[in-house]
Amino acid sequence: MNDFSRMPLVETLFAAAEGRFSFHMPGHRQGQSFPTWLRDKLWTLDTTELEVTGDLNQPAGKVKEAMNLAAAFFGAGHTRFVTTGTTTSLLTALATACPRKSQIILPRRVHQAVMHGVALLDLEPIWADININQDVEEALLRSLHNNPQASAVFVTSPGYDGRTVPLRNIASLVGEMDCSLIVDEAHGSHFVAAPGLLPPSALSQGADLVAMSAHKTLPALTPGSYLHVSKVALESGKIGTDKLGQMLKVFQTSSPSFVIAASLDYARFWLESEGQRSIEKLLTLISQLDQNLPTVVNRTQTEGSDPLRLTYDYRDSGLNRLEVQGIFNQYKVDPEIIDLNQIILIPALDAGIREFKALALALNALGAAADTGSTSRASNGDLSWIASLLDSSAPSSIPISKVMFGNMKKTEVPLRNAHGRVAAEAIVPYPPGVAMVWPGEIITSERIEAIEQLISANIAVYGVHKPDSYSVIVLE
Ligand SMILES: Cc1ncc(COP(=O)(O)O)c(C=O)c1O
Repeated sequence: MNDFSRMPLVETLFAAAEGRFSFHMPGHRQGQSFPTWLRDKLWTLDTTELEVTGDLNQPAGKVKEAMNLAAAFFGAGHTRFVTTGTTTSLLTALATACPRKSQIILPRRVHQAVMHGVALLDLEPIWADININQDVEEALLRSLHNNPQASAVFVTSPGYDGRTVPLRNIASLVGEMDCSLIVDEAHGSHFVAAPGLLPPSALSQGADLVAMSAHKTLPALTPGSYLHVSKVALESGKIGTDKLGQMLKVFQTSSPSFVIAASLDYARFWLESEGQRSIEKLLTLISQLDQNLPTVVNRTQTEGSDPLRLTYDYRDSGLNRLEVQGIFNQYKVDPEIIDLNQIILIPALDAGIREFKALALALNALGAAADTGSTSRASNGDLSWIASLLDSSAPSSIPISKVMFGNMKKTEVPLRNAHGRVAAEAIVPYPPGVAMVWPGEIITSERIEAIEQLISANIAVYGVHKPDSYSVIVLE
């Protein structure tokens, strides 16, 4: 029986925001980061393009003025406000820099939007496989040396866990070729605000096209994104703003949101006026927290990674993922992700003592649960071999564009029997949201085993369906 008096989504969202400590995106803490003058009037900004504003898809007037301020602040030659997310920014960047059917060099860990762009443009991916003891930079440089004909190199930096890829050497090699460096800096919009304290931004290292999800770390609404073109790419004519504008119209709605665009304008203003001070304060709170961590929780911060991305390895606690989730929930602390090894938290740039006290309580409770053995000792085991599969390419058989957009016959088979079959859908464990198999790749028994282990560790795996048993969609 339908109960039309209810609003299930509205009710749930209001309840979910009640009294929680947000350590996840968006970066505005359920609106608390916005000053009241903005928060109270946000909805009056929801308008169509007006004479006084200009058109977001055809920047002029005040729209252009705001975008130019953002370009100057982030160190770009040209910036567009994208109100349908970095997903749109990435598709636009690819379509601007890569002619149809050209080759693109990329590591395997990319957001699905990149592979959708590869499929739409019928690009040929050249995977930069990350071998053991090798880093992403090395793998990309080697691929670039071996494939100077590629139209673009694609890099994600920083990743979800805050790890960055040094870009200067890649940018300098790309600069000698007829090639563009596209960087997915979805998680690094804040880098520019505190030079010396945070890693250098992609633009400052010579990237040509950079996409930032402002909503992930700044006080901006979901899914606000900046799409930047570097001064060098613009002045050399490598990237043209006309083409970029045309491509943006392909991928963005014809009714881009002024509320979201205004929040992008505000986020730039806030970062410029408050960013450095807030980041210094946040770093102090983080270092105080680090000094009082329980011994079974280890902060995992690698050289050059974002010091504001809190990643804690909890394996020494002996607790499993659901137990850790339960403890955080008890303390009303919402992390971004708890995966098999680590807890990843994204503090808002203006997070304060209240939030950090709650987080300290949750982490201490985790330590206590491990010490007393009050929870089961079922840890997730060593699953590092699975992580390495996410970095190395699976055998490919049919181009992704043909599988996604062709008229190929598909069928559903039990996961267990899928060995040797060609995947018709991406199979993506979440977390971390990185594909184990892309459409068109052959499903190997090693990857089946990895998927089964992830499922048994309670990780959701998109692309694995569960009618009676686990099944996947493959080509007939
Ligand atoms: C690395 C990375 N790139 C791109 C995206 C897509 O960004 P958006 O949600 O702004 O479309 C995400 C989203 O999670 C991401 O993590």
